[in-house]
Amino acid sequence: MPVTEPVLTRRIPTAPWGDPRDRRIIGYDEYVRTGGYETLRRALTMDPSSLVQTVKESELRGRGGAGFPCGLKWTFLPPPDGNRRYLAINCDEAEPGTFKDRLLCDYDPHLVLEGIAITCWACRLDTAYFFIRGEYHHQAKIVERAIREAYEKGVFGGRGLMQACDFKVDCHMHRGAGAYICGEETGLLEAVEGRRGWPRLKPPFPAVKGLFGRPTIVNNVETLAAVVPIVDRGAAWWKSMGTASSIGAPGSYGPKLMGVSGHVNRPGVYECDLGIPLRKLVDEFAGGMRAGRRFKGAIAGGVSMGILGPDQFDAEMDFDIGRRYDVMGLGTACPTIFDDQTDMVAVARNISRFFSNESCGQCTPCREGAQWMYRLLCRIEEGDATTKDLDLLNELAGSMGIIPGTTICGLADGHNWAVRTILNKYWAEFAGRVKPSYHGLTVSAGRADGVSSARIVGATGA
Ligand SMILES: Cc1cc2nc3c(=O)[nH]c(=O)nc-3n(C[C@H](O)[C@H](O)[C@H](O)COP(=O)(O)O)c2cc1C
Ligand code: SF4
Repeated sequence: MPVTEPVLTRRIPTAPWGDPRDRRIIGYDEYVRTGGYETLRRALTMDPSSLVQTVKESELRGRGGAGFPCGLKWTFLPPPDGNRRYLAINCDEAEPGTFKDRLLCDYDPHLVLEGIAITCWACRLDTAYFFIRGEYHHQAKIVERAIREAYEKGVFGGRGLMQACDFKVDCHMHRGAGAYICGEETGLLEAVEGRRGWPRLKPPFPAVKGLFGRPTIVNNVETLAAVVPIVDRGAAWWKSMGTASSIGAPGSYGPKLMGVSGHVNRPGVYECDLGIPLRKLVDEFAGGMRAGRRFKGAIAGGVSMGILGPDQFDAEMDFDIGRRYDVMGLGTACPTIFDDQTDMVAVARNISRFFSNESCGQCTPCREGAQWMYRLLCRIEEGDATTKDLDLLNELAGSMGIIPGTTICGLADGHNWAVRTILNKYWAEFAGRVKPSYHGLTVSAGRADGVSSARIVGATGA
């Protein structure tokens, strides 16, 4: 079930509709020539609340990882009071295996800028901060140039298009310094305010008290790009793609950019209907398993989400995936595929190293637990651990995160789910790498005072 036509990749040649070698940056003139900014022009003639309603009806779910309904989030804003209100655009994209927002920045930055302008009009926001990860030097330059063009042509700055409705939006770029935690929405707000990216306690949520203490919407790059076709073609059209929930949860509608990496023949970003089975995504889009090897597992959508096991290759890539396949969720829908030669202990150790490096250190269970888990996994990999360490690892992992209620943000949940799901879905592989646990048993060898007791060693817990 690929999408029947390219939507977000309309101008970015992508298989099966186009050849990636034909990609180039779409500047302002070409964007306009191909219908760009027409939706903004129309949106500005419409009542902002009707735009919020359209996005709400589309049931667009955030594309940054949490899948929160976008239109619903917009309704949490208090009414305008004449003071500043912000949009923070999340282009941190530091989740390992995730590289879908980069595609939009690389080739069609004006699609994102049009989504930003429409969102600002719909939600009555006057200042947008485009937060982009430090490592995206090239992408930052492209987006910066597009922002300059958009100012010159009157998209931003209260001239041109916006003048007619007496509405001024400013858009600034803010470059990150390379910390994963700045992708967490309140860590991002701290960074934009010039501080280190320490997530804030919620509530209050950013829609009520965000940047500089003012109402702020935080949305992902792909979410904002999706606003343009939704406003252009309507909620019913958007909902004709994707799938309803099979477990009574909100649906998974529309197309989604899915970045496939790992042991496949053609890694890359593909645009598919939500709900496509992972096997189909790999076989029909990513060219199949590399060297014809067998599928062993896949990170569901960014390492935080945990792993799909060897028997879950047919998992549908939609927002129900968490409850149906024992992972945390769909995340960014960018799976990393592992073949049957992969050492899953090494995978878990490598992921744990990432999270222990990236913990911001505010919460003890995350700061300390992350280091413990990493050290335990190193010992397991080196063959220096016992079976008891596997239980300890499970216990440690399961105790950190927002879900068990011990941390401020979801970074610890990501570490928790990644390690626990790998450990439990590949238990035999871990068990084969550890020594059985031994408990000393002391038995009397005849004397009541036990002086000549012999120490009998028995294996337990194997
Ligand atoms: C540790 C952590 C890292 C995150 N990194 C990103 C990121 O790189 N990009 C992103 O859009 N959302 C990221 N998120 C999710 C954001 O907190 C937030 O939910 C999202 O930006 C909201 O936008 P959306 O509703 O459009 O998805 C992260 C969350 C956590 C807990
Ligand atoms: S969970 Fe970890 S990363 Fe998040 S605030 Fe706490 S210490 Fe920082």
